[in-house]
Amino acid sequence: MFTEPFRIKTIEPIVFLTRRQRLKVLAEAGYNIFKVPGDKIAFDFLTDSGTGALSKYQLAASGMGDEAYSESESWLRFKKAIQKLSGKKEIIPVHQARGAEKLLAEVLVSSPGDFILSNTLYDTTRGNFESAGANCLDFLVQGELSSWKKFKGNLDLKKAEKFLRQNNSSVKAIVLTLTNNTNGGQPVSYENVFAASKLAASRNIPLILDACRISENGFFIKKLEKGFERFSVQEIIKKLCGLADVVYMSAKKDGLSDAGGFLSTNNKSIAANLRRLANFYEGYPTSGGMSGKTMESAIRGFEETAHEDYLDYRVSQVAYLHSGLAKIGFSLVNPPGGHAVYIDAAKTLAHVKKNNFPAQTLIVAFYAEAGMRCSEMAGSLTRGMNEPLELVRLAIPRRVYTKSHIESVLEAGLRIWKQRKNLRGFTIVQAPKHLRQFSAVLKPLTPSLFYN
Ligand SMILES: Cc1ncc(COP(=O)(O)O)c(C=O)c1O
Repeated sequence: MFTEPFRIKTIEPIVFLTRRQRLKVLAEAGYNIFKVPGDKIAFDFLTDSGTGALSKYQLAASGMGDEAYSESESWLRFKKAIQKLSGKKEIIPVHQARGAEKLLAEVLVSSPGDFILSNTLYDTTRGNFESAGANCLDFLVQGELSSWKKFKGNLDLKKAEKFLRQNNSSVKAIVLTLTNNTNGGQPVSYENVFAASKLAASRNIPLILDACRISENGFFIKKLEKGFERFSVQEIIKKLCGLADVVYMSAKKDGLSDAGGFLSTNNKSIAANLRRLANFYEGYPTSGGMSGKTMESAIRGFEETAHEDYLDYRVSQVAYLHSGLAKIGFSLVNPPGGHAVYIDAAKTLAHVKKNNFPAQTLIVAFYAEAGMRCSEMAGSLTRGMNEPLELVRLAIPRRVYTKSHIESVLEAGLRIWKQRKNLRGFTIVQAPKHLRQFSAVLKPLTPSLFYN
């Protein structure tokens, strides 16, 4: 059990529609959850990125925002805070993490035969490296989606080492994503990061941390990894950053901010190259496109997400939703991750064929039953019929929803579970070739969504 470690001072009203109204909304949106108007959504579990609630300290700090174009007071405070957090001297601010990825890709990738190795690259990371010409390979430790093994976000070191032995000169970096968003929000162990840093150093390539959720990852290390219980999460974060050559982070996740991010490194030559490009793509190199207000708010955000009472609540809330859905009968990615619950739609709706989009079918059912919006993380609508996974992600915004909101979602989950055999799936009426999840128009196979 958990109790929210905060009181609510400012509220955003939720408008609850009736089930009949929600079915009409779905039909008007072509059964595509991305097209459902925001004011028709009760619980928005589409993303945990940029959706957290601000504390009174963050709000007050925003008032200190210095909007000077260069060397603003806010930048000087931001730089100092990130140097402390990451233990690195060179800080390059960015408007959000994909900006950092674009800069890294341009700096590191020089020819089309280059490789980037990873535990699992997030979509934007992969997109940026691939569009710079690199081949990206994910070497994730083996593990069934449903197994309860610890640290299922780890890099498969043996595979990475073997690949490096055979293709050393063409591998440009190892990137570790903490936590592993695409694979269930699973954490990466300190031991794994340590071994990856040794491997990268032995091959003279940089180890890069995509540290978007490093506070959540640090908390899992404290709770699950032997020897780390005596360290604070802040200390663990610093130790993790100390193993990497470059750390980059979106301030929209564990920075509790609506925008922003940074790259940090002690490598002066990498920093100089990143800074030169940042000028073109991100903004002046002492803001990276962030306002002074955003930098001030993010400084406090990074501090607040490393508080252990907050982290305990955060992972407990995710675990509460996970255990509720598991008790109902949903097949899930186990154990619960740090920021989201992932439903294995292929197993949960085993009777719905892949070309009738099991993940989308569950997503639409959750909106119909709860007004809840969630998304396909890896699945047939997003990635086509060759994608082996069919995962629905329920990402929980930080400090936004209460236990009773989670219970409403669970009640809807129970109604869906009882009627699951009546869900028949969808066909595509119209869709573009790329990124079709955002704009596809779908049609239920049967006249009513729940065919009964
Ligand atoms: C693991 C990971 N890396 C990178 C990004 C990109 O971050 P941003 O949205 O700040 O560009 C995300 C966003 O969700 C993410 O989850």
